[in-house]
Amino acid sequence: MRLCWSLTVVLALALAGAVYLFGIRGSVAPASDGRTAILLEPGERDLVLAEMRAFLQSTQAIVAAAAAGELAPAVTAARAVGAAAQEAVPASLMGKLPLGFKTLGLDTHQRFDQLALNAEAMDDPAQTLQELAELLNNCVGCHAAFRIDAAKN
Ligand code: HEC
Repeated sequence: MRLCWSLTVVLALALAGAVYLFGIRGSVAPASDGRTAILLEPGERDLVLAEMRAFLQSTQAIVAAAAAGELAPAVTAARAVGAAAQEAVPASLMGKLPLGFKTLGLDTHQRFDQLALNAEAMDDPAQTLQELAELLNNCVGCHAAFRIDAAKN
């Protein structure tokens, strides 16, 4: 009976530790420039950076569309980096990303979706640019806090 309880406690602690490591802490280390380095394999880094370049590409398309006063291309560009795009991230990589990174990343995808919905509903370029300006704070904030370094094996 006693052994049973000890085992339960050990398992619960192990589970809590796993949740902390994979759900909250991620695979991180302090970086030389004061940011938090996320330690990734080359292929994982490639995947995250490809997602980043898609963010930048969509941002360019949204600014261009708003400047031209024709929001249809902005809607398409925003949806291309919406929450649906995030499903491509494998669980093994998810586990290495700290909670703050995941939260900010998800919020960014959702803001692109919301921007697309509002651009369709309101068709107001100034409103779209306002939403983009707020969304870009996520990019600025995340880049100030995190960078990606190679995992040491
Ligand atoms: C959740 C965190 C996060 C958010 C949000 C985020 N980024 Fe990034 N981004 C990163 C990290 C980390 C890097 C790697 C930086 C480094 O290692 O110095 C990066 C790199 C990049 C790069 C370089 C890509 C390459 O191929 O080298 C671009 C461009 C970029 N981000 C654009 C954006 C844009 C535009 C947004 C907002 C629409 C954005 N990012 C939002 C975390 C984020």
